[in-house]
Amino acid sequence: MIPFVNLKAQRDAYREEFLEAEARILDSGRYIGGEEIQALEQELAKYSHVNHAICCASGTDALELAMEALGLEPGDEVIVPDFTFISPAECVSRLGGIPRFADIDASTFLLDPGKLEALVTPKTVGIIAVHLFGQTAQMEVLEQFAKANNLWLIGDAAQAFGAIRQGKHAVEYGDISITSFYPTKPLGAYGDGGAIFTNKGDLAENIRKIANHGMKESYLHEVVGKNSRLDALQAAILRVKLRHFDAELKKRQENAAFYNDFFENLEKIKAPVIENSNISTFAQYSLLASDRNFWLSVCEKAKVPTAIYYPRTLSSQPCFKHLNSEPNICAQNACKQAFSLPVCAFTDVEAIVNSLKKAL
Ligand SMILES: Cc1ncc(COP(=O)(O)O)c(C=O)c1O
Repeated sequence: MIPFVNLKAQRDAYREEFLEAEARILDSGRYIGGEEIQALEQELAKYSHVNHAICCASGTDALELAMEALGLEPGDEVIVPDFTFISPAECVSRLGGIPRFADIDASTFLLDPGKLEALVTPKTVGIIAVHLFGQTAQMEVLEQFAKANNLWLIGDAAQAFGAIRQGKHAVEYGDISITSFYPTKPLGAYGDGGAIFTNKGDLAENIRKIANHGMKESYLHEVVGKNSRLDALQAAILRVKLRHFDAELKKRQENAAFYNDFFENLEKIKAPVIENSNISTFAQYSLLASDRNFWLSVCEKAKVPTAIYYPRTLSSQPCFKHLNSEPNICAQNACKQAFSLPVCAFTDVEAIVNSLKKAL
């Protein structure tokens, strides 16, 4: 069976480099913090042209730390997309805030800036834009909207580290950006991990403090913080993968282009729409099919794995039902029609397309 993300082939491709990096950390006796984390943070910041990169325990933690540093208080409202993974809304709720679910653009799956005005109330403090499936949201428009309404803006690049919009990295936009190093993400570790990006020195300092038990100085706890760190072994693995990252992103884009050539000639199915100003990481290759069940059965017959991101809007999830959110039509439609195909740098898309042709 074809793997949805072929991490084994990736390990085989860079095996010697992984073995060297893993042995270096395991033999060092230093497993938390230290030089490896510092080196990765510097490399991530340099790669994405931001002043500060701070590693932490997961993408979800990164969102929570970002909002704590921005001063989110109980009862504050934050605008989040209705069609995405749960983390942004979950983190707002866990900090005592209220997620307000915004609709997406019907073709790009990204937050629709035109739908935000109606969600702003005197309690609104910020927006979390998600760069879904690897494509940067309309951040220059959202930045203006946030400024005009005195809101902060977080960019969730869990699926989009390395994505470019108008010549800028996705994580260069907004007050703070985050990413996830979950193993199947475009830049994934061998366990959980995440990072926070900002150009603002005061926010960076605050985030580091909160993620380190509220300490700047040893055993002087200025605020109640938490433990959120990436370990040295994960950092060493990520440093190996970062060396190959641009080549992998290029391959993902070629794979997506190959799929596009096939799907663009078919009816009732829409290849992903990438805005002209965007270069996507293609964390997912997500199609829209008005007869999704038909396509899922074709893929099954062809032995091609599929995934449904996401089967339900967040506002309709049991945990958010009590918020009585207005339904968002485009988000609901995406839940009914979207499905994703394997697209990583080690996926043989030519073989997949041939199998699909035969199964059709
Ligand atoms: C858009 C988005 N945000 C946040 C996260 C959370 O990342 P993590 O799994 O590292 O906590 C994910 C993970 O799937 C995600 O897709």
